[in-house]
Amino acid sequence: MNRVWRLARRPPAGWPTDGDFVLGDEAIPEAAADQVLTRTIYLSLDPYQWGRRRSGVEAVGDVCHGRTVSQVVQSRADDFQPGDYLFNTNGWQLYGLTGRDVDVFGYMFPRKLDPAIAPISTAVGILGMLGLTAYSGVAVQCQPQPGETVVVSAASGGVGQAAGQIAKLHGCRVVGIAGTSAKCDFVVEELGLDACVSHRSSSYRDDLRDACPDGIDIYFENVGGHVFEGVLPLLNRNARISLCGMISQYGNTDGRDTGTVWAETGRPVFDRQNVAVHRLFVRNFVASHQDRFLGEMAGWIRDGRIKYREDIREGLDQAPAAFSAMLAGGNFGKTLVRVSDDPTFG
Ligand SMILES: NC(=O)c1ccc[n+]([C@@H]2O[C@H](COP(=O)([O-])OP(=O)(O)OC[C@H]3O[C@@H](n4cnc5c(N)ncnc54)[C@H](OP(=O)(O)O)[C@@H]3O)[C@@H](O)[C@H]2O)c1
Repeated sequence: MNRVWRLARRPPAGWPTDGDFVLGDEAIPEAAADQVLTRTIYLSLDPYQWGRRRSGVEAVGDVCHGRTVSQVVQSRADDFQPGDYLFNTNGWQLYGLTGRDVDVFGYMFPRKLDPAIAPISTAVGILGMLGLTAYSGVAVQCQPQPGETVVVSAASGGVGQAAGQIAKLHGCRVVGIAGTSAKCDFVVEELGLDACVSHRSSSYRDDLRDACPDGIDIYFENVGGHVFEGVLPLLNRNARISLCGMISQYGNTDGRDTGTVWAETGRPVFDRQNVAVHRLFVRNFVASHQDRFLGEMAGWIRDGRIKYREDIREGLDQAPAAFSAMLAGGNFGKTLVRVSDDPTFG
């Protein structure tokens, strides 16, 4: 049988709760012409999935969307054989059908994975959309120069850990912001950033100022809210800001849009005056330069110049709990669910 999580209702405002999802046993589907049937090995849990559910892009009764790493069980597509490992989008289920399509980021899928190049789980993490997002925001958009000060929020998370290390490779002084001292220790000792401060500390703003004695030239924004408010007064003139995400706001219950940086006072942190006074260069960005990224990132991982940490939860049943934990900062590294055995592991 297939095991499937479906969206049980249009989620009310706020953060996910158990009642939003329903788990069921269903028949395993059959591949049609040009399709493959695959068994999900790793399911990626990402903040954007909550936006899809809240906004109605994912309809009630749909299989919950998610990118996956899978193995082909049955193929009716010429270029895929049973046993192949694929990047695809099975969603929150054990078995899924895949035809040729294009991901919102322009990734072709299904895409074959070679376990000899990198662990297959990285296709939904550091060597997938997360790594590409960090690469696009830091290397392509902000073009960091040696000696500049770069600050990255959610620095131990999926995108953040890649963004901070890419800035280090450009010769910058890089300061992370994270939620706990264990995460901060990891960011400095394992990832090699120059400093890391906890946004949960009562001295957060002072700690950040002390860690950035020359101000901030580039800010890679993952969080928004009070984390951003600590950064704003330290930005140098002509600073560049990559607006990657604002996860602290994805559960807004008062109708405030989740894509604006809001202060705790309820006022937008960014307004025209702010941007003009600081001469800030603020951009959302589109992930780009995939081929260049894949080549460079695979090499950096192989040479040990980029490290990554995954937070792997066991079993499809855990998906909603792991999803909620990740949105609240309970993850430590890129959040994945191991849905079934990974034959390439160990
Ligand atoms: N633009 C794009 O194309 C794109 C693509 C992928 C992801 N994103 C965005 O990138 C950001 C990170 O995503 P990810 O998948 O890498 O997740 P992640 O960083 O692995 O996990 C989320 C982290 O956000 C932090 N966080 C959660 N709530 C917070 C709060 N209220 N205040 C402060 N920090 C909070 C937590 O870290 P701490 O415990 O350290 O605070 C948590 O571990 C998200 O905003 C996401 O939407 C954007």
